[in-house]
Amino acid sequence: MAFVKNAWYVACWTDDVKQGEMFHRQLLGEPVVFYRKSDGELVALQDRCPHRFIPLHLGKIVNDAVECAYHGLQFDCSGKCVKNPHGEGKIPAAAKVRSYPAYDKHTMVWIWMGDEPADPATIPDYSVLDAEAGYKTSGGYLHMEAAYELMGENLLDLSHITYLHDGYLGSPEQVGADQTLEQDGDCIQCNRWMPNVSVPGIFDMIYRQDGKPVDMWTNMRWIPPSCFLLDSGVHEPGGQRADHGWYYGIHILTPETERSTHYHFAAAMPSGTNLSPEDDAKFRKMRRHAFEVQDKPIIDAQQQAIGDADFWDLGPVLLTVDAGPVRMRRTLERMVGEEQKRKAAKAAPQKSHADEREPAAAG
Ligand code: FES
Ligand SMILES: [Fe+2]
Repeated sequence: MAFVKNAWYVACWTDDVKQGEMFHRQLLGEPVVFYRKSDGELVALQDRCPHRFIPLHLGKIVNDAVECAYHGLQFDCSGKCVKNPHGEGKIPAAAKVRSYPAYDKHTMVWIWMGDEPADPATIPDYSVLDAEAGYKTSGGYLHMEAAYELMGENLLDLSHITYLHDGYLGSPEQVGADQTLEQDGDCIQCNRWMPNVSVPGIFDMIYRQDGKPVDMWTNMRWIPPSCFLLDSGVHEPGGQRADHGWYYGIHILTPETERSTHYHFAAAMPSGTNLSPEDDAKFRKMRRHAFEVQDKPIIDAQQQAIGDADFWDLGPVLLTVDAGPVRMRRTLERMVGEEQKRKAAKAAPQKSHADEREPAAAG
């Protein structure tokens, strides 16, 4: 399936792009190189020299421009060639690379790879990761050998926590939880409510550390095409959300290729959470373990099993827990279709006014 191009994607963590260094990554099938100008401003360029196609990240940064390692062409932050050291130094018109809108926001680098105008005001709100929000945060990165839609389905169907993350994030009585699906524009919210269940390990640690039953919730929001925000926690049966016992789970997927994904995850815990430094380290370790050792092998194996086949052509069995995932897939298919239509309409030759004239009335 093609990607939704006109959207904000997370390229990496802000810290990944260091002053004086280049950081490169394939995003939506395109090679991109990032660096910072001397004033700290972020630059994102196509990572392929237009001369002999050498990745620009193999070169060096010279006066806020990138110099290709092979024959020394230099490209500025707009992608324009600003120096040709050969011959008379004339710069061929085709000597340019694409420059992408890119911003640092909420501790991440966001990139826009579509052909429509980028509006930074539409970057999804992950302000819970901003220092001033006062949450205790932690984050990580995983490379998935699977299409981002498969990982998206994993996040929108959290019934799997009972099986895949038993004891960590889920517990057996959670099967058959009350599930509701809400739609808000193109966003989807999948809520699960699990009253009076055994407390999973991570939640026991951040709540009471007594192993007693709890009411638990997992409310996962999908912001198309590939951003997710989970509100999940526990409280005593019949009780209220207290100032601890819950956290926000940040899950952001960026396609690398059609069959591989950059997965950025983070957690934001309210400041009232009473965790010792050892338990805080354990919390981070347990979450990473759940995603890396429990989710990743399953999702990678799922991609292997699907191979190049079309997902729907395989005739997947549908269960009640698939309501969110199916709606996500349908929404993505519609968004891609709409985008392709807009592109085709733009590319089509403009009709002349004469074509639009009403045919003359007969007689
Ligand atoms: S390949 Fe980049 S300057 Fe020749
Ligand atoms: Fe999982």
